[in-house]
Amino acid sequence: MVSTVAASDAQSELLDDFDLYAPPAEFYESPYPYYKALREFDPVHENADGSFYLTRYEDVRRVYRTKGMTSDKTEMFTKKYGPGPLLEQHTTSMLFSDPPYHTRIRNLLRHAFTPRALKQLEHRVVDLVDNLIGKCRARGEMDLVLDFAFPLPVEVICSMLGIDARERERLQEWSREILTPLEPTATPDMISHGNRAVEEFTAFLRDLLEEKREKIARGARAGDILEDLIDSQDSEDDPLTADELVQNCILLLNGGHETTTSLVSNGMKAMFDNPDQLRKLQNDPSLISGAIEEMLRFDSPLQIGNRGIAEPFELGGITLAPGTQVLTSIGGANHDPDAFDSPESFDITRKPNKHLAFAAGIHACIGAPLARMEGTIAIGKLVAAFPNIERAGPISRGGRARFRGLTGMPVSI
Ligand code: HEM
Repeated sequence: MVSTVAASDAQSELLDDFDLYAPPAEFYESPYPYYKALREFDPVHENADGSFYLTRYEDVRRVYRTKGMTSDKTEMFTKKYGPGPLLEQHTTSMLFSDPPYHTRIRNLLRHAFTPRALKQLEHRVVDLVDNLIGKCRARGEMDLVLDFAFPLPVEVICSMLGIDARERERLQEWSREILTPLEPTATPDMISHGNRAVEEFTAFLRDLLEEKREKIARGARAGDILEDLIDSQDSEDDPLTADELVQNCILLLNGGHETTTSLVSNGMKAMFDNPDQLRKLQNDPSLISGAIEEMLRFDSPLQIGNRGIAEPFELGGITLAPGTQVLTSIGGANHDPDAFDSPESFDITRKPNKHLAFAAGIHACIGAPLARMEGTIAIGKLVAAFPNIERAGPISRGGRARFRGLTGMPVSI
């Protein structure tokens, strides 16, 4: 009894002066002890700016599933970024918009993620993974993030959009600079880099779209999603404007790679920390899809979501008024003992596993089937190719709260 009380005190102490906008260094290393304390002692945590941070599964799920929420962040982003390209990007992308605009764009992009479309992409993913594994085998060494998890998703998304993979480095840099200001706190430097990145990315896409239009006019189609989007501009039924087209392509390119890189790197880190689970998968490759779901739950690539309250909303005895911002802790929800047995255990055979790594409701990740396919092929092939794979040096982290991932993880193969 005494030790339980001491443990509770230690946990609640973690919350003394807790500030999501300036968390302690340990939070970036592992936010899970903080989530546990928040769930137990302060599940509807009020931030200094009057927004609320929710860490319980049921609260987070309700926010995603409730109609009386808005994803439109025009007011918040105008205050945060001021006028400029970054504001234009984040307010035109469907991610930060509501129906009917959101529905219109989502319906256009949906075709890229049907089982048929993904089947066509599968052989490309297999080739890319085989190629990356072959290069590492030839070198005899590997940084799992830099040499494997990082290059794969951006090449896949480039393939899907018909973009030359040699543009990869530029795209990765722009993407990082556009996403970083979405962190709870954005410095003036982050904002100016973000503005410049949107400007350059926009100019790049406008040129690319022009080239594609010319090719379509000459009858030289490649069959990629950009062509479908260009076609939709000729439709009489509420066509996309040039800005809407470009800004949503940026969203697709950005959404599609960093998170998938983190699925592979966070997932493999969990495997190395739990070698019995790694062996289990190596002995029975049919466990791969359950393993991917557990990786998504255990150390989710996207840890925080945002919604605005549009209609009065009751949570834990508090009524949140319209205009209030809520931050959903996906990582907190995915470790809630009320939703998962032994949530701190990494168990690739966990069933059921209704994690919220892809959120839920109308904005649930449109790219989830692609991310699952990439994760399955990448991790399945990696652990089969290198039966003795293990960590061989310290990991490095990006140090961000919303996007949780690694920047380096040396392994021996
Ligand atoms: C493991 C990898 C991934 C994770 C964890 C992830 C996570 C998420 C989450 C949590 C959301 C909801 C955001 C919100 O409304 O607050 C989202 C939305 C979205 N994701 Fe993903 N994502 C992943 C991969 C992808 C891929 C591969 C693509 C595209 C190629 C993609 C494109 C998008 C887009 C376009 C949206 C906006 C959907 C909408 O507003 O209706 N994501 N993702």
